[in-house]
Amino acid sequence: MSLTDKHGGKYEGLRPRGAPPRILLLGASGQVGSYLADALTTAGEVRALRRAEADFLKPRSALAAVSDLDPQVVVNAAAWTKVDLAESYVEEAFLVNSETPGLLAGWAAGRGALFVHFSTDYVFDGEKKTPYDEDDRPAPINAYGASKLSGEKAVARAGGDHLIFRTSWVFSPRGENFPRTILRLAETREELSVNDDQVGAPTSAGFLADMASMAVQRHFGGRPAPSGVYHLAGSGRTSWFGYANYLVERAPAAGFQINPRLVVRPTRGPDPSRPARRPLNSLLDSGKFARTFDLTPPRWEDMADEFLTLLADRGPEA
Ligand SMILES: NC(=O)c1ccc[n+]([C@@H]2O[C@H](COP(=O)([O-])OP(=O)(O)OC[C@H]3O[C@@H](n4cnc5c(N)ncnc54)[C@H](OP(=O)(O)O)[C@@H]3O)[C@@H](O)[C@H]2O)c1
Repeated sequence: MSLTDKHGGKYEGLRPRGAPPRILLLGASGQVGSYLADALTTAGEVRALRRAEADFLKPRSALAAVSDLDPQVVVNAAAWTKVDLAESYVEEAFLVNSETPGLLAGWAAGRGALFVHFSTDYVFDGEKKTPYDEDDRPAPINAYGASKLSGEKAVARAGGDHLIFRTSWVFSPRGENFPRTILRLAETREELSVNDDQVGAPTSAGFLADMASMAVQRHFGGRPAPSGVYHLAGSGRTSWFGYANYLVERAPAAGFQINPRLVVRPTRGPDPSRPARRPLNSLLDSGKFARTFDLTPPRWEDMADEFLTLLADRGPEA
């Protein structure tokens, strides 16, 4: 299904003018990156570098690898995403999430290339009672969030064309993530305890990849969006407990085995086994994105339904 089919035909006529742009994708093995590898082919000629070819822990050699390819667009889906481990590997998290992206964005700025980057709701402290917009003051409460905020600033400071999509609670049929863990545990467990006081909106990796590809198409189709941060997350809200219940209730109809005796219990407060604190409110207001790109993100429940269907089709080893 094409982007146009999926999102209501709004993006016809956005094919790049002239030769397709050379797009370099970094982080192609990740949840978002693996979808980007497909989605970006509608926007240009895609080259993807693996970690071994552009290791963000080695900023200078990553820069050399990127500049050798001389892309017109750099899409950076690479990141240190291990939130708890970042507490004890702060320097490494900052190298991967801030220093190297800043260096690459600086190269892109010098070459007039577009830099597309992803960030997180974890840049906020979670104390606000309503969804965060782009004008709210970031105040990260863990090392991962601090490293991602530093990365946003480094990309912006580079001064070139850039789009930073801040998102939340990313999931995909590929990789390790909350819904896959819940489905695996729900098969055999009789009880699951899941946090009910952190709220947010799950966001599918496939949707994020489609939106990034659409933004690149717009850029080269003569309608570039202003550089800056855009909040981009599933519509609606839930807690981790609400999310787990939704999955467990829908899973049998999609063909998953769920223990019939399973009870999902709500918990409150931080999990003492996790070194990193989590914000209570992860809700992002995607209004600026919707106004700029004329597209409202789908409800998180619809994305979760699609996830269940895709995962059921692919099987457990997907
Ligand atoms: N996951 C979430 O819930 C979430 C929420 C909000 C925002 N985000 C943001 O969304 C973006 C995409 O996240 P994701 O969920 O797709 O992450 P992911 O699945 O963890 O993928 C991370 C990618 O980064 C690569 N990477 C890690 N360390 C690297 C290094 N030293 N050098 C080069 N590449 C390296 C990984 O390669 P390997 O396969 O080799 O490890 C992988 O391709 C990130 O910017 C993340 O901060 C994620």
